[in-house]
Amino acid sequence: MTLDPAALPTKDLYGLLSTAVAPRPIACAATVDGAGRVNLSPFSYFNVFSTVPPILVFSPIRRGRDGSAKDTLANVQEVAEVTINVVNFDMVEQMSLASTEYEKGVNEFEKAGFTAVASEIVRPPRVGESPVSFECTVDQVVPLGEGGGAGNLVVARVVRIHLDEAMLDEAGVLDTVKLDLVARMGASYYCRATPASLFEIPKPLRNMGMGVDGLPEHIRFSEVLTGNNLGRLGNLERLPEAEQLRAVSSLSEVVAARAGGRNALHRLAQQYLERGETEKALAVLLLELDGSSPTGQ
Ligand SMILES: Cc1cc2nc3c(=O)[nH]c(=O)nc-3n(C[C@H](O)[C@H](O)[C@H](O)COP(=O)(O)O)c2cc1C
Repeated sequence: MTLDPAALPTKDLYGLLSTAVAPRPIACAATVDGAGRVNLSPFSYFNVFSTVPPILVFSPIRRGRDGSAKDTLANVQEVAEVTINVVNFDMVEQMSLASTEYEKGVNEFEKAGFTAVASEIVRPPRVGESPVSFECTVDQVVPLGEGGGAGNLVVARVVRIHLDEAMLDEAGVLDTVKLDLVARMGASYYCRATPASLFEIPKPLRNMGMGVDGLPEHIRFSEVLTGNNLGRLGNLERLPEAEQLRAVSSLSEVVAARAGGRNALHRLAQQYLERGETEKALAVLLLELDGSSPTGQ
């Protein structure tokens, strides 16, 4: 199915975009208007876009019903400062409450029951319950359109970072598991970064992987191996040496799998991949090439 976004009603386009582009981190953005009145609202059209300088961007959308500006947008245009507070599981219900469209001037810190902690540099306070808060000055606001649904990029430069020390590991580094962050999905779904939902992938930056195209054809077109399996194998720098092939060929499970044919061997390699034994998996897959002993004897 292929769609032309211009032919979709705004509501459907919003539903499609926000379901497909997910999970999205959530910024609880605190701002003040020219009179110093505080506002707090969550935004999931949000991310980090630069490390040096440290730049966060979020996007208050013009209201679908009348194209009017949300209070947050009006505020950053009056006072170019914002605190951006990340959202973890313990504060998700209060964050949701803070998204209520209260009238301009209503302080959502109070409505949501959040603690407003005075910032060091900027006027808007930060959320005391948030594990990580950023004090930011607003470099620019970039309107992406005029009507309902149009985003406005608020380009925010981080000038102070506040961390809850309980979120650090023994090395003093932010701990992903302790943070317990939540993210926004489509419709009213959220997801939570629990230990069960986390997994690691070795970074390909350190080596120059041979790529999936560097793998022999019988591996690339395997009936068993998945795209993830091939991606992991392609991250290896080179094909194994004869010595490695010899070493795996004598393992009893390899001998048994080899006797079972190509797919049995690929299934065994897949088990090795699931255990993180990538080089061993590739060695096993290469045994099949000539069907004889890897030493060629
Ligand atoms: C988790 C979550 C994420 C949201 N993300 C956005 C967003 O990225 N952009 C937006 O315009 N509204 C977003 N909203 C809706 C706003 O929070 C809501 O319109 C809020 O009332 C705006 O407040 P304001 O008028 O005080 O700025 C989100 C709401 C929730 C609950």
